[in-house]
Amino acid sequence: MKINISPDTFPPDYDYKVQPDNTQLAHFPGTFGLPVIGHGYAIVTDLRGLCQRLDKDYGPISKFNMFGSKGLIIADLDIQQAIFLDKDKNFSNEKAFENTLGRFFSGGLLLIDFDEHKTQRRIFQTAFKNDAMKTYISQMNVIMDKHIQHWQGDNSFRFYPQIKKCLLSTSAKIFIGEEEEAQVQFLNKNFVDMFDGMVGLIQMEIPGTKWHKAKRALRNLRSHYQSLIPARREDNTGTDFLTYLSQETKEDGGVFSDDEIVDHINFLLMAAHDTTTSALTNIVMELAKNPQWQERLRQQAFVLDKPFLDYSDLENMPDFDHVMLEAQRLYPSVPISWRRSIRDCDIDGQHIPANTTIWSPMLLHYRDEKWWSNPDQFDPDRFSAERCEHKKHKFLFVPFGGGAHKCIGMHFANIQVKCFLHQFLRNYRFTVAENYQPRLMIIPMPKPMDNLPLKLERIFPPN
Ligand code: HEM
Repeated sequence: MKINISPDTFPPDYDYKVQPDNTQLAHFPGTFGLPVIGHGYAIVTDLRGLCQRLDKDYGPISKFNMFGSKGLIIADLDIQQAIFLDKDKNFSNEKAFENTLGRFFSGGLLLIDFDEHKTQRRIFQTAFKNDAMKTYISQMNVIMDKHIQHWQGDNSFRFYPQIKKCLLSTSAKIFIGEEEEAQVQFLNKNFVDMFDGMVGLIQMEIPGTKWHKAKRALRNLRSHYQSLIPARREDNTGTDFLTYLSQETKEDGGVFSDDEIVDHINFLLMAAHDTTTSALTNIVMELAKNPQWQERLRQQAFVLDKPFLDYSDLENMPDFDHVMLEAQRLYPSVPISWRRSIRDCDIDGQHIPANTTIWSPMLLHYRDEKWWSNPDQFDPDRFSAERCEHKKHKFLFVPFGGGAHKCIGMHFANIQVKCFLHQFLRNYRFTVAENYQPRLMIIPMPKPMDNLPLKLERIFPPN
């Protein structure tokens, strides 16, 4: 165990939620980067390169400054494991995300700490169990089919906006029970405005700024979710997540308040949507660049001899699993994790003061040749039972995180990816331009900047 608490620094009446950030980190190596933005420019343009430089120049623990939020970046895998598992409850998510995600998604599951988080997560879990998944899979298959059948194979086809629309339609149906085109467009517009503004440099509600637009989009979304709750409380027959949360009783017998439900739905739709959209875009890009892999999966999709996957098919598709993992290794949807210490602790003999923001750069290890053979190469077989490169350290490869906050939608995301690929591969052969090497966006989610232009060749008559 590498983390030791200093017990005398945590008196009983201490409230970590009201403590300001600790930035007194002079005893750590490194610098806080440029005034105002800190390491911000390098974070946006080359996060992996920045983490490699910091690790090489200063070792595994050094100062870090993400657009003015100052703390430590810790690249050591054992320490990363100890922070994720957080056996002694030393690290807060709520405080870590307070000035970033917290401005838009406070009350979301990822932003709740300790016992309260445990209680709320337990309630969520029923909605992610097998029975619920079976309902979701049949709903998503039908919606995906509608989208895929309308795609055109000419050169103006851009994959990213199309998969975004397709997955948002599935999420709208599954999470809030909506499927009308106008409702999905409303969600899409407000999501786009919100994400666009969230990463803006000016974070004040001044009319005309992106931040202002993002906050307006947030209000639109929240009042829309709110307006749906009374009907979901009345009628318990729906299979959507909103109905489930509106009906569910807590351990003390009470129900979730409207505000709690809105907080959860607001975060869930974001967590479910953009991660998987980015993941599928990068998967399809790699399959287009590696036609032998595309063909290998297509053959397996045809062997199943049915237009839609059933729940029972999912566990027998290891190549699909490995392709998904390999794309996450090369382009992780969540490249870095955030926590804030709530008390003084010793990590690996290094004293970490209370209230210090800590980043674990998971992506740093994903292309390290110390662990992976030909790390820049797309090689899904590295995850096969024979090779298992990802198991060389328990926390070497954690695209879905670990510990109490491990992604609750991991299985759901896997189902979405398999259902989509199964249909897409049976309907189209897809290619990118020769020597396609797009510029890649990293923040807020990794994807090719040109939105992935594809040439689609129809290979199966519409179902
Ligand atoms: C490729 C797709 C996805 C990836 C890579 C991903 C990744 C992650 C990661 C790394 C975390 C933990 C973050 C941390 O500990 O700081 C997380 C948490 C979470 N994810 Fe996902 N996610 C994906 C899809 C989804 C989907 C589809 C859903 C919902 C259906 C979802 C819902 C959540 C929720 C609610 C949390 C917070 C869990 C908690 O705090 O207990 N995610 N995700």
